[in-house]
Formats: sequence, structure tokens, C-alpha cells
Amino acid sequence: MESYRLAKVGFPINGLALSGQVLVTGSSDQTVRVWDVDSGTLRQELGNQHDSAVLAVAISKDGKVIASGGVGGSLYLWDIGSQAPRISLQVEHYRAVWSLAFTPDGSRIYAGGIDSVVRGWLTESGESVIGQSTRFQPVERVSSSMAFSDDPVERGSYQFRKCAICHALKPGGPDRSGPSLSGVFGRPAGTLPGYTYSEALKNTPIIWDEETIARLFDIGPNKMFPGTKMPEQRLTNPRDRQDLVEFLKHATQKTDAD
Ligand code: HEC
Repeated sequence: MESYRLAKVGFPINGLALSGQVLVTGSSDQTVRVWDVDSGTLRQELGNQHDSAVLAVAISKDGKVIASGGVGGSLYLWDIGSQAPRISLQVEHYRAVWSLAFTPDGSRIYAGGIDSVVRGWLTESGESVIGQSTRFQPVERVSSSMAFSDDPVERGSYQFRKCAICHALKPGGPDRSGPSLSGVFGRPAGTLPGYTYSEALKNTPIIWDEETIARLFDIGPNKMFPGTKMPEQRLTNPRDRQDLVEFLKHATQKTDAD
């Protein structure tokens, strides 16, 4: 079989994607290139958007949309043929976008990065589908029937779904954007070794217990720790707060295995 050099970029190529005759490369020179597979010719060079290495590229099955991701968590959606991205997404949690894939119908783009969470967006609008993509996250799946359980711990596991994106329950659990909650009861706030807290959580007199965790979601993190990097969220229903606490008491206990 004849072999030939298709794409000579001169820089490490980190990502490749193919749809029909269109080949897309992403390389360390901050550039996305679009090639014609048949002729081996360079169709387009998209070099003015990424400000660091391009690490991942994807192209929709119909060949109409290109996605590129790179260092810094930058993620762009380009309509084929245009020189500027149609949608720019900055995904700080990733620190770098390492992997990208379109759904077969091209309606969504999924991306993964350093924080080990897969996130999704609508290709058309750039709107996040994070709620619907939680099943791709490496966290325990919780059936929505748990919300109606008679057991407060089970109901609390349903409340915890939202937290699981950012908090592990085991010591040294997967690296997420928030500290592991293992052994959190009795722990003074802002003191898990190895985790970099915001100034807001350092030097507070608060010790985590049933009352203070419930209060955190009653009044909201911003009110309890002005300036915290934990996003604002509240559980306005007292029963939901109580369920969450019951679940956490159960799930954050350290065991001998830990
Ligand atoms: C989008 C990410 C995110 C979500 C969702 C989130 N947290 Fe956090 N959480 C953080 C971050 C980041 C911090 C550290 C805050 C700081 O340093 O200012 C934190 C801190 C905390 C702390 C203090 C821990 C300590 O060691 O002092 C507790 C307790 C906590 N979160 C519980 C929860 C619970 C329970 C939920 C769900 C109801 C939740 N968090 C949802 C990111 C998140």
C-alpha cells in the first residue's frame, strides 16, 4: 500500500479527528489545522485563538463543526470554513482540556480534563448540559427513586448528587475541585491537609457538625464564608438539609480500610 506524508506540521500533534475527507489536527503550536485527506492539502489554519498548546480536537460526523481544546481549559467550537470560533467556552475546572467527543448526531460535545469529570455542552448554543451528564462522572450513580425513599440516608444520597461533582467521600479520593469530606464531622473548617482553601475558609472558628453543615446550606456558603470559592447553593427545605446531614454522617465515617 502506498504511504505518503499527509500532514507535516513541524510540531507535536496532540489530537486527530476525521470525518469523511476532512482531517483535523491539533498541535503544540497553538494551531488547529484542517486537511483534505484525498489530496493531502491544507485547507485551513486556525492559529489565532488558542494561546497555548491544542491538546484535543473533534469533528462532528456531518463534518460541519470542529471542537478544539487546550491548555488553560479553553474549548472552542468552530463552524467548518470560518476563521473564528462560533463559541468559546472556558472550563477552569479542567485546567486543560485533554479529550473531546461529539455525540453521533453532533448535538452535543463532551470534554474531559484533569479534574476527571466529563462535561457536556449543546453544540448549537454552548449551553452546559452538566446536569444531564452527571452519569458520566466517576461518582456513584444515584437513582432518582432515592428521593422518595423512607430512609433519610437514601434521600440524602440523592441530595449529595450535586456535591459529588466536587467532593470525594473517601480520604485522598479522586482529585476534585473541593476537599474530600471523609471524616468531616468534628473537623475544623478549612483544615484538610494538602487542600488549598480560599482565605475565606482559613482561620474560621467553625467546626463541622450536624448543625454547622446544615447551616452552610441554610444560609449559603457566601454568607457563611464571604469570598469562599465554593459556589453558592442552598437547600431551602429543612428536611433536605437533614437528609443530607444523615447521609454525610453515614458516608464520611472513616473505616479501618481507610
Ligand atoms: C462546584 C463545586 C462544589 C460543589 C457542587 C459543592 N462544593 Fe463544597 N466546596 C467546594 C470548594 C471549592 C470548597 C472549598 C471552599 C474554599 O476553600 O473556599 C468546598 C468546601 C466545602 C466544605 C468545607 C470543607 C472543609 O474542609 O472545611 C463542606 C463541608 C462542603 N464543601 C460541603 C459540600 C456539600 C455537602 C455540597 C453539596 C450540597 C457541596 N459542598 C457542593 C466546591 C463545591
